[in-house]
Amino acid sequence: MPTTLEVKTPRLVTALPGPKAQQVIASDAKFMSPSLTREYPLVAERGHGAIVEDIDGNSFLDFAAGIAVCSTGHCHPKVVEAIQKQAAELIHISGTDFYHHHMPQLAERLVATMPGKEAKKVFFGNSGTEAVEGAIKLARYTTKRDKLIAFYGCFHGRTLGSLSLTASKNTQRKGFGALLGGVEHIPFPYAYRCPHGHTAETCGTEILELLEQQMFKRLFAPEEIAAIIVEPIQGEGGFIPAPAFFLQELQRICNRHGIMLIVDEVQSGVGRTGKWWAYEHAGIEPDIVCIAKGIASGMPLSAFVAKESVMTWKKGSHGSTYGGNPVCIASAMATLDLIENGYMENARRMGEYIFGRIGDWPKRFKIVGDVRGKGLMIGIEIVRDQKTKEKAADLRDAVISKAFHKGLLTLSSGENSIRMSPPLLIDEEQADFAIHTLEECLREVEKTV
Ligand SMILES: Cc1ncc(COP(=O)(O)O)c(C=O)c1O
Repeated sequence: MPTTLEVKTPRLVTALPGPKAQQVIASDAKFMSPSLTREYPLVAERGHGAIVEDIDGNSFLDFAAGIAVCSTGHCHPKVVEAIQKQAAELIHISGTDFYHHHMPQLAERLVATMPGKEAKKVFFGNSGTEAVEGAIKLARYTTKRDKLIAFYGCFHGRTLGSLSLTASKNTQRKGFGALLGGVEHIPFPYAYRCPHGHTAETCGTEILELLEQQMFKRLFAPEEIAAIIVEPIQGEGGFIPAPAFFLQELQRICNRHGIMLIVDEVQSGVGRTGKWWAYEHAGIEPDIVCIAKGIASGMPLSAFVAKESVMTWKKGSHGSTYGGNPVCIASAMATLDLIENGYMENARRMGEYIFGRIGDWPKRFKIVGDVRGKGLMIGIEIVRDQKTKEKAADLRDAVISKAFHKGLLTLSSGENSIRMSPPLLIDEEQADFAIHTLEECLREVEKTV
């Protein structure tokens, strides 16, 4: 008989949470920071591929992938082997003070994934927020300007610099006092709720007008602005893709005024949308790109990649003790091999397959307002009423909770959306399981409205 990790779809053997899970949850409540937000009581014990087993032996199909981190699935044998081999050779030396071949090796590989004429340079850190912090510092340093523009709904991290950009939920900012000065936000193109009635291709014209005609004239002169930072697909904000023309126009505006265009690919990058980077779908060449999450299959690694003409800061102006440590890089190298040799194409193909099956959900389920995204970054917006588009966080939460109790892990996103961000290796059987399960949950929750 296969073990629970060898099966491709879930198997539940206890009520949830099971007895051992309950013990862990009680101990967590006693000792852990209460700031952590758990959507349902999964107590993970081990994982393999797209399957996670909990501490009581229940197995789940993972369509959350540790917030889009486990791009190659859980504990891919090639990733595990690379980590183990490297851990036996050299764990740490600090790339800030000493050379080691792993950093330039991965940097060269990352740069090769990025289209564009200009040479690029890389800085390694440990988390998404650290990549964003570094990008802010580099943009300020290079331009000798300090103002920053970000978008409503964006999430760029929780340390004080990146938090100043983040405008996702006010609980993430509330209580922490004054953040960075000189930061302003403008609306993000959100086609489903476009006040001007634009489509997913054309939404955002008025926002660009607002930027140039209002923001630049009334608040910040463009020559004072260091950077505009944008997620090509808002992740925490609800899996909302920016139209290609919008990103292209932002690039033109930035070029015209010497403003750095920072693209945050922390959630959308590393093959998840069917291309290495989601910004490639718009054919742009950002000045700085922030990367984390899927890059190292769960090992803590981030990077920001900048045009060579942009990354000219002096020795000592930025550093990190752990950033780019050899074990994380070994994991990243194995991850990139797997993404390149099949998983990126699989993400494109499975994304198309899933969108083909769920694109008509707004017609089939009265609580589904919108289905959107790219590749394996799939958002489903839940509403109480399709006409008024009233946001229904309670119904969304009910769908997510029911899915968990049927063995499917998903996450919330934005105020009222469900996100599916599975490992890039899922197959049709697993996609079908996720689709059927969510359909069942939607039907059950719809009956309560
Ligand atoms: C787009 C984006 N940027 C930055 C971050 C912050 O990453 P981390 O939690 O690794 O600091 C996140 C995290 O969800 C993200 O989605």
